[in-house]
Amino acid sequence: MKDSSEKKAGYFDLSHEQYKNVGFKETGKDLRFVSLKDRSINTCISDELQWSIQMGKERTLWQGQMRMLKYPLDAMTYLQIMGDIRPKTIIEMGTFTGSSADFLSMSLSHMKVDYTIYTVDYDPSNRHELASKNPNIKFLTGDLNKVEDIFPIELLKNLPHPIFYIDDAHVNTPGLLEYFHPYFQEGDYIVIEDTTINIPKDFVNERPYSVEMEKCGSTKHDEMAKFLEKYSEFYKVDTHYCDLWGYNATANSNGYIRRMK
Ligand SMILES: C[S@@+](CC[C@H](N)C(=O)[O-])C[C@H]1O[C@@H](n2cnc3c(N)ncnc32)[C@H](O)[C@@H]1O
Repeated sequence: MKDSSEKKAGYFDLSHEQYKNVGFKETGKDLRFVSLKDRSINTCISDELQWSIQMGKERTLWQGQMRMLKYPLDAMTYLQIMGDIRPKTIIEMGTFTGSSADFLSMSLSHMKVDYTIYTVDYDPSNRHELASKNPNIKFLTGDLNKVEDIFPIELLKNLPHPIFYIDDAHVNTPGLLEYFHPYFQEGDYIVIEDTTINIPKDFVNERPYSVEMEKCGSTKHDEMAKFLEKYSEFYKVDTHYCDLWGYNATANSNGYIRRMK
């Protein structure tokens, strides 16, 4: 019988740092942060499963009361990112009820991070009163096609880092990234939501659903790709978060991006 000193370090013995890098660092190459050109847009999630996940997403209520349009695998990935980078600023494009901002706030408050969440929507009528009461969330109202009216440069210059930036309004994605680019720093994270080609374009809340419904397609991924190509030395795709549950097993194919310098 082997004595315990001979026991090989196993899965449960890994430190947090080692655990995050399982499968990445062993080769000596940085396989975690890669260029978009080294990635496929495809996802390992079948159309059938994509549709049923989407349907569950659309029936999710945060705090039992607020609709929250967050893909379940990504919700957990977001919590991983909260713990890993502990953002001091969150910028969310697309508030809807405010549930997603409140969800992230819960995690940061629990970790006692000193943070502010800015969330923007041009339609405040969907905002839920429970989220409105959260003192760590600043609700901004405005049209993201006129981002300079919502986020003046002086505000951007003074935002505490790391910043966690979420594009979930699906409007003016390239313009917003261009506008924020000079104010991002190394270690900031960007998430471009709903870049996965086979997620449904519209709500799926009728039964029985049909996988023949129109898919999102590559438009948003293409917009993100142009930005990443233009600024390829600054941003890399974080495959740890993209592939946490399987290759692009997310609504945000290749959409977890780290500012590298
Ligand atoms: C997908 S929802 C956001 C969902 C939310 N982040 C969540 O996870 O539950 C998109 C939101 O973007 C907002 N939106 C769409 N176009 C916009 C624009 N031009 N300016 C500001 N907000 C916009 C919509 O009103 C909608 O509430």
